[in-house]
Amino acid sequence: MLVRGATSGVGVAFLRLVKALYPSCRVAGSTRSAQKGERLLGEGFDRCVVDDRNALKTEDSFDAILDLVGPAAAQDTFAHIRPGGTVCITGLLGGQWTLDGFDPIVDTNGGCLTGFYSGDVDGERLQALISTIEDRRIDVKPERTFRLSEMRQAHAYLASRDSFGKAVAIPEFDE
Ligand SMILES: NC(=O)c1ccc[n+]([C@@H]2O[C@H](COP(=O)([O-])OP(=O)(O)OC[C@H]3O[C@@H](n4cnc5c(N)ncnc54)[C@H](OP(=O)(O)O)[C@@H]3O)[C@@H](O)[C@H]2O)c1
Repeated sequence: MLVRGATSGVGVAFLRLVKALYPSCRVAGSTRSAQKGERLLGEGFDRCVVDDRNALKTEDSFDAILDLVGPAAAQDTFAHIRPGGTVCITGLLGGQWTLDGFDPIVDTNGGCLTGFYSGDVDGERLQALISTIEDRRIDVKPERTFRLSEMRQAHAYLASRDSFGKAVAIPEFDE
């Protein structure tokens, strides 16, 4: 499978869950920065694909694509899905929320489109996820932590070329 937008917090979390639950699954990850390729491999991705202005630099197709870039790159994402494969649009990193000018008959390229919305997650599903993380001892340590008073630095980090994985803000309480 392919994770489009793999260096994001969601992308890295997804990889860790997939590798824990389906160790033999091969997962490629895309980034706009070729320099982040080594980090993606170090994280456990099996290969890195460069995303050049919403065009994946590969001729390969995938059985499943978790798309975190979203509608801005959807046509190109579907150009890389195998017939019968599934694209799950979960993120909007490309800054576009809707599929404008997308022809579902032609542009889906024989694949299926689905989505994920965290608003559909209830306590039971969240607890099931936490239990899985505990049972399988999945490493969910964030890449960086910031204090709430350091939000400016946190946003600067996430917007920088070095951004990778999950950044978490820790609330500070008065003693
Ligand atoms: N569906 C839901 O319920 C749900 C829930 C949570 C989050 N989300 C969405 O999932 C996405 C990921 O969230 P996150 O918190 O994990 O993000 P994040 O950690 O802030 O993502 C940072 C990464 O995004 C990439 N990026 C930034 N701008 C981009 C662009 N224009 N095109 C392609 N890549 C870009 C950068 O990767 P490179 O520089 O390496 O390319 C950067 O490493 C967001 O769109 C978020 O809104 C959806």
